[in-house]
Amino acid sequence: MEILDGKKISNQIKEEIAVEVRQMKERGEKVPHLAAVLVGNDGASLTYVGSKVRSCEKIGFQSTLIHLPEETTEEALLKQVENLNQNPDIDGYIVQLPLPKHIDEQKVLMAVDPNKDVDGFHPANFGKMALDMESFIPATPFGIMELLRRYDIDTQGKHAVVIGRSHIVGRPISILLSQKGKTANATVTLTHSRTHDLKTLTLQADIIVSALGVPNFLKADMVKEDVVVIDVGITRVPDDTRERGYYITGDVDFENVGKKASYITPVPGGVGPMTIAMLLKNTLLARERHKAGN
Ligand code: GUN
Repeated sequence: MEILDGKKISNQIKEEIAVEVRQMKERGEKVPHLAAVLVGNDGASLTYVGSKVRSCEKIGFQSTLIHLPEETTEEALLKQVENLNQNPDIDGYIVQLPLPKHIDEQKVLMAVDPNKDVDGFHPANFGKMALDMESFIPATPFGIMELLRRYDIDTQGKHAVVIGRSHIVGRPISILLSQKGKTANATVTLTHSRTHDLKTLTLQADIIVSALGVPNFLKADMVKEDVVVIDVGITRVPDDTRERGYYITGDVDFENVGKKASYITPVPGGVGPMTIAMLLKNTLLARERHKAGN
């Protein structure tokens, strides 16, 4: 079994981006500028956004954090989004999800300028991705594809079973894995809460992407020997013995599934750090596209 080391690969990608940023600076060019909008004080979101902003600083990007109170109205948030759309200094931005319940998430995501949508959540980008056109690919699926690519994992003609149909992970990764291409051309089964007899499907899988958010969901008796396992789950489990009061776990029974798998991502240290690296990559792409005039 080999660990798919997302921490190590994400550091490599960040270093590659940092080299490009240094070259931009040497040429006297503007460096990429990422903004993040966070509404409220959800613990996990605070951690993610903090991590995104810190990563920007480390690789030489400019970053702006717009932290708004929980009671922010939809109208006020839409105004912020419009300001970011109009601000020529901002190359890309994200609105951290989930948003408070009184705000219509879809309405906000629709208001983001697709050319600055480095999360790839706008329908224009999602549609382009599905049609193999240049777009912004959502960071988590983009990170999974990059991890498979950098470990040279053969996906050609393989059966990939995706667990979970979220707009952020399950749906887009099912599209990307089934596209034409070197790290693609898989035969994809997209499963979800209404799927009958999931175990029959996972037992046939050469590659499993689990994006469910249920700790210990995927067990050793559900997978075949030499399966490639990508664990996208990040769940905080309360634990008073830890200083933070919780520990992080994925969807996969890592210890036992790991004994059968050929490759497996750990949690933490697998898909999570790749998501941040690919958000930075998308921001660099946004900068380059804006410089080229589109
Ligand atoms: N919430 C969970 N994952 C993400 C992500 O990739 N982007 C944003 N904006 N919010 C999220």
